[in-house]
Amino acid sequence: MNALDALVQPDRVHRSIYTDADVFNAEMSKVFGGAWVYLAHESQVPDPNDFLASRMGLRPLIITRDSDGGLHALFNRCAHRASIVCQAECGSARRFQCSYHGWTYSNRGDLVNVPYPEGYPADFHKAGHGLAQVPRLGTYRGLIFGTLNLDAPSLAEWLGPAGPLIDGFVDRSPSGRIAVRNCQRMIYRGNWKLAWDNAGDGLHPTFAHRSFVILNERQHGGARSLSQFKASPDDTGMYGADLGNGHMFVDQRPGLHQSFWETQRPVPGREWYAAQIEQACGDDAADVLEVAPGSMINLSIFPNLLIKGNHFETVDPVSVAETRLHTWMVAAEGAPDEVNVLRMRIAEDFPSLGNPDDLELFERCQEGLAIAEVEWVDMSKGLGHDAEEVSADGVVRAPVTYEGPMRGYLRAWLELMSSDVKLTTAAAGEVTCEVAA
Ligand code: FES
Ligand SMILES: [Fe+2]
Repeated sequence: MNALDALVQPDRVHRSIYTDADVFNAEMSKVFGGAWVYLAHESQVPDPNDFLASRMGLRPLIITRDSDGGLHALFNRCAHRASIVCQAECGSARRFQCSYHGWTYSNRGDLVNVPYPEGYPADFHKAGHGLAQVPRLGTYRGLIFGTLNLDAPSLAEWLGPAGPLIDGFVDRSPSGRIAVRNCQRMIYRGNWKLAWDNAGDGLHPTFAHRSFVILNERQHGGARSLSQFKASPDDTGMYGADLGNGHMFVDQRPGLHQSFWETQRPVPGREWYAAQIEQACGDDAADVLEVAPGSMINLSIFPNLLIKGNHFETVDPVSVAETRLHTWMVAAEGAPDEVNVLRMRIAEDFPSLGNPDDLELFERCQEGLAIAEVEWVDMSKGLGHDAEEVSADGVVRAPVTYEGPMRGYLRAWLELMSSDVKLTTAAAGEVTCEVAA
């Protein structure tokens, strides 16, 4: 048994996994380096020469599409004296010039110009001084992942049963394609795993989001999204699942008894946009409107992508006790504009009004975790209970308030953290990109 084994036990975890800077530093290598990490969506770099800023743990990246359409994840770190090279969040550029001393790189990462080149040693070659990059990329339905671990399993293997669930989210779009648009940003003073615990936690909505449930009752007569958590959520058929490799799934759909559209809370412009769609789509209007509301699933792709509602949320650790969350609106390509406007308004609903409940509680948890003498966090609900079912593909499914998904991701976390991973970077031309779907 290693030291980490003692921190993650079947029914409880030690506070230090949320508070210890050494654990955090190891996570930045073994998890946010050794595992497949979500980086961006292809729709954010649709055309040649497009780029987007991203991160892999603490490593700033520039995701680029070169002039031939190839994808790259360049470390946003000058090969000269380490300055960030690109400060823009997105745009189109063939070249990136470092603002410190002017070294200039192509969007494939090659060093193409060094000012005043005289004076460098005779054996200084531009070819050896390009931007380092993520050596292994993979895409699944347009989602771009990267790992620094050449021995990691294939992306398809890593995703496992989460793959078909990503398909289900993407295939709500009539074209079978999604487009990731702009984001809302939030930050909280707490460890990144507090957000991860919460993503598989069907016990908290009844309490943490009480005001939403009450609003649904008082203003809208109940039967709205989240109303199914009003009381006894385990009697609704909603369930949580441990998908393996740290991925988790919460399915809220069994708790709905009307269409997604009928259970959506009002958002600005709802009636006007709905009337436009009804006029344009006639008998198909109900099906078209059904694409607008959230998916009523929470699909968490370890370690940093939460697919929920009709948006993506990315989890960016900043330090052991600080985390950034970005909520990216996801449009359904091929759906009428009115549907995508509604999707955007709806993607603002829970993240704006519900996420603050969660973030406040993450900060309260981090504050409680600071008490060194009280060491353990309980995650035992559902442990050994008959209602946990295991399917042939290893998916463990249980009533929605059970904490099995959290115990599952922490087992995967422990496995990664206990492994010997060798991380590497690549130079331009050495990158592999696998298409998993
Ligand atoms: S640090 Fe980039 S050119 Fe000097
Ligand atoms: Fe929540």
